[in-house]
Amino acid sequence: MSEEATGLSPLDEEGIAAAVEEAKAAFAAAGSLDELKSARIAHSGDNAPISHANTLIRTLDPADKPKAGKLLGAARKEVQAALAQATARLEAEAEARMLSEERVDVTLPTRRAPKGARHPLTVLVEDVADFFVSMGWDIAEGPEVEHEWFNFDALNFGPDHPARQMQDTFYVQGIEHAGDADLTAVQGLVLRTHTSPVQSHSMLERGAPLYIACPGKVFRTDALDATHTPVFHQVEGLAVDKGLTMAHLKGTLDHFARAMFGPETKTRLRPSFFPFTEPSAEMDLWFPLKKGGPGWIEWGGCGMVNPEVLRNAGIDPEEYSGFAFGMGIERTLMLRHSIADMRDMVEGDVRFSLQFGTTGRGN
Ligand code: PHE
Repeated sequence: MSEEATGLSPLDEEGIAAAVEEAKAAFAAAGSLDELKSARIAHSGDNAPISHANTLIRTLDPADKPKAGKLLGAARKEVQAALAQATARLEAEAEARMLSEERVDVTLPTRRAPKGARHPLTVLVEDVADFFVSMGWDIAEGPEVEHEWFNFDALNFGPDHPARQMQDTFYVQGIEHAGDADLTAVQGLVLRTHTSPVQSHSMLERGAPLYIACPGKVFRTDALDATHTPVFHQVEGLAVDKGLTMAHLKGTLDHFARAMFGPETKTRLRPSFFPFTEPSAEMDLWFPLKKGGPGWIEWGGCGMVNPEVLRNAGIDPEEYSGFAFGMGIERTLMLRHSIADMRDMVEGDVRFSLQFGTTGRGN
């Protein structure tokens, strides 16, 4: 608005009253704080008619000044009061709107983002590793795709040992070229059928004395059913030192069994055979609640490391002796939790894992 257009005289009583009414109407009509701001600039800002008239007081005759001052003072007061009222009204409205728009509806359904769970086998493998570390043993690893030599020869499996046959072992490479005549002529790669090859790797790499545990995956050409799976886990244990005896083996496995199955666990060693241990045994666990009546259940194989195996790994069997064992991890989990069907452990249904209460652990 230009000065000419708003040329309100400081003595124009009617004009001033009209400007006041105009301002009040504009403030009352404002529907938002933004609109009120524009109205405020137009009607009480520096260029508003009343403000402008106010600045003209100084140009008046001294005799007229008091009257004009009074008139405009009262007018400006009225405009300010109307502005304050409109501001309060619009602020209250804005707050009420915010309260209703931002209200939380506690009856709305939650977002369904189901939590996963760690697989009980993963957790068990970690618990097993922790157990051996707590005894001061090292955790060792070996390849899952293994040289035949490590999987069999180093462990004293003769060339005709039945475990070498294709029906047990996944051959990765090499066997096709061997022909029928001599399967050992070509050394191939296999998926390791047990964790025992880690024994030879560890002895060759670390020498004696040696205390290692190796939890890991193993593979056999079994079809998946209630009691078999082509991929499962074992934990290998190997101790090589001076003067180790079967008593150390029994003591270690008893301790391990109690850590896995509780302090009351009863164990026994039953004579068995493995090419890489002599003597060899199976460790059985006593299950008073076994289906079909109380009884022993096999947990895994063990024995004193065959001197031939020590020699193959560059350790002098005259100086050192060792004991070794290999326990099934799936078997351990099944026995601990009375899981009847192997398939439950491999299918990956989160509802199975959730039963073990493993959510949030390390997730
Ligand atoms: N490797 C054997 C198996 O797969 C178990 C075993 C390990 C036996 C170490 C004796 C010593 O069944």
